Amino acid sequence: MLDIGFAKSVLPKSGALVLLVEEAETLNADLLAQADEATGLAISRALVAAEFKGKAGSNCTILAPGANLSRVIAIGIGKLSELTQRLAEEAGGACVPLLTKEESAHIAAGALSAELAAAVATGAALRSYRFDRYRTKEKAEDKPRLSKLVVLAGHPVKAREAWVPLKATVTGVFVTRDLVSEPPNVLYPAEMADRCKALESLGLKVEVLGPKEMSKLGFGALLAVAQGSEREARMVVLQWNGASGEAVPTKGKKGKVAKIEKTDNAPLAFIGKGVTFDTGGISIKPGPGMEDMKWDMAGAGAVIGLMATLAGRKAKVDAVGLVGLVENMPSGTAMRPGDVVTSASGQTIEVLNTDAEGRLVLADVIHYCQENFKPRLMVDLATLTGAIIVALGHEYAGMFANDDGLAAQLSAVAEETGEKLWRMPLAEAYNKQLKSDIADMKNIGGRWGGAVIAAEFIQRFVATGTPWAHLDIAGTAWSSKDTATVPKGATAFGVRLLDRLVAAHYETK
Ligand code: BES
Ligand code: MN
Ligand code: ZN
Repeated sequence: MLDIGFAKSVLPKSGALVLLVEEAETLNADLLAQADEATGLAISRALVAAEFKGKAGSNCTILAPGANLSRVIAIGIGKLSELTQRLAEEAGGACVPLLTKEESAHIAAGALSAELAAAVATGAALRSYRFDRYRTKEKAEDKPRLSKLVVLAGHPVKAREAWVPLKATVTGVFVTRDLVSEPPNVLYPAEMADRCKALESLGLKVEVLGPKEMSKLGFGALLAVAQGSEREARMVVLQWNGASGEAVPTKGKKGKVAKIEKTDNAPLAFIGKGVTFDTGGISIKPGPGMEDMKWDMAGAGAVIGLMATLAGRKAKVDAVGLVGLVENMPSGTAMRPGDVVTSASGQTIEVLNTDAEGRLVLADVIHYCQENFKPRLMVDLATLTGAIIVALGHEYAGMFANDDGLAAQLSAVAEETGEKLWRMPLAEAYNKQLKSDIADMKNIGGRWGGAVIAAEFIQRFVATGTPWAHLDIAGTAWSSKDTATVPKGATAFGVRLLDRLVAAHYETK
């Protein structure tokens, strides 16, 4: 991660300087005037020549304008009165690709509030992510060099304070991006479980269940998906007890557990689909594009990154993350279309398409979650259907909810974080399509409305009375283009969204 510092607004003596410029040009006016004077007005001449007016999304780079500055970059932020956290993040992110040839840079946030200055840092940090573990031949001059960023702020001390929890969030996002980016030969269920175990260092309690334990629990649906693969299934339960205080190591004193009054608050539960590779099984997928199915574990990846975030910023909340990890392969031991499996809930499922496997995994994990944690609410994340991509493309994830309050909270934090959600319907007419001639239900419905039918399937495993939301992130887990704060590749969609949901509505003070 970028090394990010905060300092007072003083013209740097050399190097790269990024100036956030609003349309009225009052933000950073002092620094802009000083830099302009020091460079014999080279900066204002360049901004006029480029017709740079501070519009949001615009930028202008001035190379070597003098005064030892290697480059000055003006980033437009639009109207100051309309600047939100999200737009400040986007401004911070926008400068990163313009700074690849600099090792360090100053970014002037001027009179922005401490929160907005920290949001600029967040955006820059998010955009600077790169997964280059398997690039062995890249020349040094082709690698982005930026490693240090100093945000020049009106209140550097306050901005640094505001950055502390945000840094934990960015770290959590990177946990997810690393997991989702890994190739499927490296990241299979057992390996993913091991990586969860390593997060115990953050103060999470991590429990791993293998096929034997899951078979005892009657996980017939999840294990049916896994049975065609040489790679064993896992379920991982990650607990963060930041409100009740159990199992949270106190700072410095190893092994000691902080004693905070135990509250009777039930935990929030987050559940993720973790299919480390989805070939479709016997209902095998067509070859072209099948490699994309390495990120069929992005829901689980987001849950793991979220739990790392909550622990990293010591969120005052009790939360549990559960991920079902399997590989969906065709083989002599694979489940067949026509098989009937018995889920942990006791409900039987006729598997008519082995490629509708995510819902089988979620069915058992959701049931286990309710039996063991009686959660206050449940949110599941899954790259569940191609149909949600047909409906919403790559901009919004589909949200299905049995609770209007939870849906409204999620919609609001979605707007704030830019991880956008569009609510989709749940209705009996779709649910009916799951009627089977031989079992309690089948795992597919008719040709149309596949994302809704999948959500209806999952709802059959949710106990009435538990507020629940299902996020179908098939279209948003991976991006084929760079955006302001998300470089192309794994987006970690859901981590910032749910972290904000917790912070805004479920943390004790
Ligand atoms: N993992 C896929 C869904 C998916 C498709 C995610 C494309 C990302 C991009 C899921 O397991 C699947 O195969 N769903 C089927 C369901 C169908 C068989 C009812 C689908 O959407 O085609
Ligand atoms: Mn599938
Ligand atoms: Zn899948």
